Amino acid sequence: MHTPGTLTVSLPRLRRGGRGHGAVGSSRGLPLRSNDMIGAGGRATSGRGLADRLGGLAFGGDYNPEQWDEEVWAEDDELMRRARVNLATVGVFSWALLEPEEGRYEFGWLDEHLDRLHANGVAVDLATPTASPPPWFTLAHPDALPVTPDGARLTHGSRDTYCLAAPAYRAAARGIADALARRYGDHPAVALWHVHNEYATLCWCDHTAEAFRGWLRHKYRALHALNDAWGTAFWSQRYHDWDQIMPPRATQWHHNPGQTLDFRRFFSDLALQAYRDQRNAIRAHSDRPVTTNLMLPGYQNLDLWAFGREVDVVAVDHYPAAPGVDAAADTAFGGDRARSFGGGRPWLLMEQGTNTVYAGDRTLAKEPGEILRHSLSHIAHGSDGALFFQWRQSKAGAETWHSAMVPHAGPDSRIFREVTELGAVVDRLREVAGSTVTAQVAVLHDADAWWALNVESMPSSALDYHTTLKRAHRALWDAGVVTDFAHPEHELDRYRLVVAPALFLLSDAGAENLRRYVEGGGTLLVQHFAGAVDERLHARLGGYPAPALREALGIRVEELRPLRRDEKITLSDGTRAAEWSESVQLAGAEAVASYTHGMLAGRPALTRHRFGAGHGWYLSTVPDPEDHTALVHRLLAEVGVVSAWPPGVEAVTRGRLLFLLNHGADTVPLPRPAHDLVTDRVVADVPPGGCAVLRTDEGA
Ligand code: GLA
Repeated sequence: MHTPGTLTVSLPRLRRGGRGHGAVGSSRGLPLRSNDMIGAGGRATSGRGLADRLGGLAFGGDYNPEQWDEEVWAEDDELMRRARVNLATVGVFSWALLEPEEGRYEFGWLDEHLDRLHANGVAVDLATPTASPPPWFTLAHPDALPVTPDGARLTHGSRDTYCLAAPAYRAAARGIADALARRYGDHPAVALWHVHNEYATLCWCDHTAEAFRGWLRHKYRALHALNDAWGTAFWSQRYHDWDQIMPPRATQWHHNPGQTLDFRRFFSDLALQAYRDQRNAIRAHSDRPVTTNLMLPGYQNLDLWAFGREVDVVAVDHYPAAPGVDAAADTAFGGDRARSFGGGRPWLLMEQGTNTVYAGDRTLAKEPGEILRHSLSHIAHGSDGALFFQWRQSKAGAETWHSAMVPHAGPDSRIFREVTELGAVVDRLREVAGSTVTAQVAVLHDADAWWALNVESMPSSALDYHTTLKRAHRALWDAGVVTDFAHPEHELDRYRLVVAPALFLLSDAGAENLRRYVEGGGTLLVQHFAGAVDERLHARLGGYPAPALREALGIRVEELRPLRRDEKITLSDGTRAAEWSESVQLAGAEAVASYTHGMLAGRPALTRHRFGAGHGWYLSTVPDPEDHTALVHRLLAEVGVVSAWPPGVEAVTRGRLLFLLNHGADTVPLPRPAHDLVTDRVVADVPPGGCAVLRTDEGA
């Protein structure tokens, strides 16, 4: 993960169309130009997935041989064999070398590396280098450089200095993707295409403004519909001409929330359109699968459901944000999301760090064994491999201190030894490639709800979407349960429990879908401040949440009462809580716990409603993590989803393999000794910090 720059801070991202796999409704998006049409004249992918091409799981990472010389390349070959590397991502930041001046390509050096890797048994994930346009490009096309909300045009000298709406950038990106695909589309080394790198830089320039207006015209058709949606009657914002509309640039105080949300929707669509440009250019010359590496969890401005539908395999980069058990929980969170964005298909961990934990103002090192544990967690949660950024640690440049598979210290190092051990384990696990994971519980995620909660002018700054989402997932992870993510409009019937955190924005269709889910026998836990606005960010009138959800929950929220900073409250059942409270009226539900403070004393805080064949629960405050987990435990017990393993053991069944990761402090005995694919011997227990992978059909 690189540090988000000026353009990636607090402002919006955009899009809509918002549904993922199995959605119950229709979608809409940007007006499509002809090159957006999938497969127009191009080849379809042959259906041979990556695992098929590799004959197992992928192991390796970003490989940047252009930073080194022949002597090092020879050592790379030897070390890659030793570590059993079978996939190298090449060319991610090579544009300035591949196209040293406009239209003049130098492919000779890349030919040599691809041939060398192929001869060494290493397949290539060939990248298009469009995340980092070369200096000549930005000097020739200064209008393709990104502009910040306050009007500063950035310059080259870093990376990701592009504007996705600039015609010159889009043409150049298509051009280099096309040139690479023509040359390497059939190269025997190429097993996967890696479009761009971690979309996307935001921009507020004039090109963006024009594209934004085009997107809005397509969405709203008539200006009065936009004025109505954005509530422009407030603060004299009425637009009388489309050309009066701007991206949400720096302004005096709060931006119009509708404008902010639509900008995010627009930008996600724009990024997807840019991805499609390149993917289609590649497909015209290659039958290999195409993907782009998505960044999880909260950095990107993308609707990941939409991207999940467009890539041949979901690929994500994952760097934990905290050490220890929090990193393990975060890894599971990332894995469960990646799997879900691909509709349950196997996905690919494109990047992780061998020795990198991004902990705020410093990068922490990993503990011995964590490279293995984190990689096994990704594979358990559905990844068809474990890849790293990067193979060899750079000796110069902005990421000199970012960890790698071969560190500065060289192969005689703890890191390379652990990498080599991991390579052998990944090889032994090859039978799991292509198999899937089944979850009985889901957490709802919707980019619209995320972006909506990020607009300015909310009643509390403590309403952070990802904190709430992660907390909900963490409670389930702590309870030892594997969790899917789902969109509120997805088919949910296969889940015994659905948790809806931070679902501030909820469409009528989403609310109706949740109502039907409960009525049909599902158990739904909805957390505070849910369904308070519709997809236009208009407040629900007559009480929150959306009417269909009120019906399922048997409640009506009359008043929001954010708590003071640092204020702690205790509910009638002893639950400790903070941040938020609401005045909840019962409309069929029973109060399970009540408030004990202030004007809310004696009023419901946690409610339960028997509705149809199911139950709708509403939690109107934010419990402490421990009490939150206890509540989730209770619900899981009610729906009969209970882990067979002691607390601290993460147990995931994928295909015929059972992955056991012991995050606890005690040795965990197995019901009977079994052959462990990690150690390749029969084991009777899993020690603290240890892992085992057992075949379920061998009695595990
Ligand atoms: C991201 C990028 C890589 C690198 C790593 C470092 O994931 O894709 O290029 O910057 O971060 O963490």
